[in-house]
Amino acid sequence: MSMDTEVIRRQFPFLTARGSPCAYLDSAATAQKPQSVIDAMRQQEEMHTANVHRGMYPLAEEATAIYEAARQSVQSFLGAQAPQEIIFTKNCTEAVNLVAKSWGKANLRKGDAVVLSPLEHHSAIVPWMQLAEHSEITLAWVNMDASCAYTVESLRTTLDTVQAKLVCITGQSNVVGVRPPLKESIEVAHNAGALVLVDAAQLCVHHPVNVRELGCDFLAFSGHKLYGPTGIGVLYGRRELLEGMSPFLTGGSMIREVTRKGFSSAELPQKFEAGTPPITQAVGLAAAIKWLGQYPWGEIEAHERTLIETTFAGLQSIPRLRILGSDDPGAISGCMSFVVEGVHPHDLTAILGDQGFCLRGGHHCAQPLHEHLGVPASTRISFGMYNTIAEVQAFLPALEKAIHLLSKS
Ligand SMILES: Cc1ncc(COP(=O)(O)O)c(C=O)c1O
Repeated sequence: MSMDTEVIRRQFPFLTARGSPCAYLDSAATAQKPQSVIDAMRQQEEMHTANVHRGMYPLAEEATAIYEAARQSVQSFLGAQAPQEIIFTKNCTEAVNLVAKSWGKANLRKGDAVVLSPLEHHSAIVPWMQLAEHSEITLAWVNMDASCAYTVESLRTTLDTVQAKLVCITGQSNVVGVRPPLKESIEVAHNAGALVLVDAAQLCVHHPVNVRELGCDFLAFSGHKLYGPTGIGVLYGRRELLEGMSPFLTGGSMIREVTRKGFSSAELPQKFEAGTPPITQAVGLAAAIKWLGQYPWGEIEAHERTLIETTFAGLQSIPRLRILGSDDPGAISGCMSFVVEGVHPHDLTAILGDQGFCLRGGHHCAQPLHEHLGVPASTRISFGMYNTIAEVQAFLPALEKAIHLLSKS
């Protein structure tokens, strides 16, 4: 059965209630939120406000139960073994920083390497660069060609040349939409004695993710790309790893005891959730997971595939336009990026923006990838479940017109 996008769209106030029509083609940056997510957060603020893991009165206990139920939703969304393996953070970036600043700082020694690829988002690169500034670890880069295919052979070659302790790997590129072969890469990394951190910020919106099937050690994502709110992200970590790690942020809520002499940390997951956590956002994230769970992945993926293929074919026929990365639309998911000879992405996206097409121009927080592709910036079109073929069909001639206009100026 195919997905009824009209039914989907009606659930998004942004798409129906705004005065001016707009084709939102920037879901890789952040997704629009369905009404049920907004309602769940509003209900939480209106009816269940109390801090969590503190008060003994019924309202406080209720708030704690709601917050912990949200953790269980994430646990089952990711197929994790236990709720203790789910840490709520501010976003995906903070989740990666937690691993770098806690596990990385304690476990990486002079000569150890963190393996990255040019596909990574800055949030999966810079925390390791910062760690390298203060230690003598190295960063090793997996080689890839212009198609941006991440191959297990290339990973193996990199692993053979360094003393790898961690492989940080994206599940899906936020620029060129390719997906590394995760399961095989994780196996190869483990065989070389390295742990694996998966950046699933883009992947988990477009494809089911099961941490136990993948066998990854850590996995990070953000709520706001998954039709949930901003202000919440998730770090999944294998329990024994998290148990062995020190807290990244310290203060209230994360302690077992504080004396004048020092402190001891609380158990998981509180150990990593210092201060008042993003309670309402956790509720919103659980509502987003519930909302998404109504639709079979097969239908979501089939719908998004049609969007990608239609866009790819349309872009390919535009003169002077180059789609970055793979020339096989079947290898692309969620988003694609392109450059147009003589036209700056900022100018292009500004003109298209004035006509109601929201898409992003720039480096998309992936400068090493742009360097790899030999361009400083690109224009990215990205999709959510609510996008339609009609939007793509309206976008393509608008793009051609904008290119024409900019080429004359
Ligand atoms: C692949 C990838 N990783 C990480 C991030 C960082 O997410 P956040 O800004 O929500 O921390 C993004 C955001 O665009 C992303 O696309």
